[in-house]
Amino acid sequence: MRVILGPSSKELGQKIAALVKVEETLVTFKTFSDGESYIRLEDPVKNEDVVIVETTSPPQDKKLINLVLIADAAKRGGARKVIAVVPYLAYSRQDRVFLNGETVSINVIARMLMASGIDKLITVNVHSQEALTSFPFPAESLSAIPLLAEYFIKNGFEKPFALAPDKGAKYIVEEAKKVLGGECGYLEKQRDRYTGQVNVNEGSFNVKGEVVIVFDDIISTGGTIMGAAKNLKNQGAKKVYVACVHPLLIGDAKRRILESGVEEIIGTDSVPSCVSKVSLAPLISGKLKELDSG
Ligand code: R5P
Repeated sequence: MRVILGPSSKELGQKIAALVKVEETLVTFKTFSDGESYIRLEDPVKNEDVVIVETTSPPQDKKLINLVLIADAAKRGGARKVIAVVPYLAYSRQDRVFLNGETVSINVIARMLMASGIDKLITVNVHSQEALTSFPFPAESLSAIPLLAEYFIKNGFEKPFALAPDKGAKYIVEEAKKVLGGECGYLEKQRDRYTGQVNVNEGSFNVKGEVVIVFDDIISTGGTIMGAAKNLKNQGAKKVYVACVHPLLIGDAKRRILESGVEEIIGTDSVPSCVSKVSLAPLISGKLKELDSG
């Protein structure tokens, strides 16, 4: 097995290769003056199982193209099996038709990945499991929630309240609760499908005087988290922290979240950022070791 270091997840790829104890392959990567990507694998991969580590956070279209170019180069180079580790899987939020005339974007992405020669996909906390059921090849999602929850335990938090900002993240806080040992609950969120405007309604739980950690899979504009933080402050929460797997943090989302009364944002290196304090390397390398020995 060999780990190919995708240009957007080089550090994570290096950590994974070190933990699995396999060789790394660098990718020569450049963008031509017209915007097109060029990639070249720096080592031969003939008859090897290769693992491409490449996230697809914004600019997701560019990164998806890089991923499929790398996969194709690996297959052309004679790789036996191509496993794509894509910590943040772009387009997984459009996993169904919400409004007439839309497409199911994730299905299109799945077909594109297959056409490039990818044999298996490993992602992390995919926005919806349903998104993966339509994949024409094996695709699975690992959960980074225990790792995120452990970060708080290591930092001395005692039985904090774990809150999901919407019902979709309920499974996330139930998982976090197992590590944190406190209570958990969720808010009700409505998003206007035309404007993207988020409304968060009160849940039926008591957080007065509590330290609360809001867990979510993705922070994009920060609207969801800010709505949750406002709600928690109104309910008398003592302190509000945020944990998320994929800190996209578009624009000035980080500043606005902190200004809404959040103490700290903890993210993973699924999307490298200034809040990526938890690495996915142990989680992903564990899975790869399992595959390698099977
Ligand atoms: C949506 O259901 C997701 O779980 C996140 O809550 C959402 O993508 C976050 O987006 P934003 O930060 O723009 O509110």
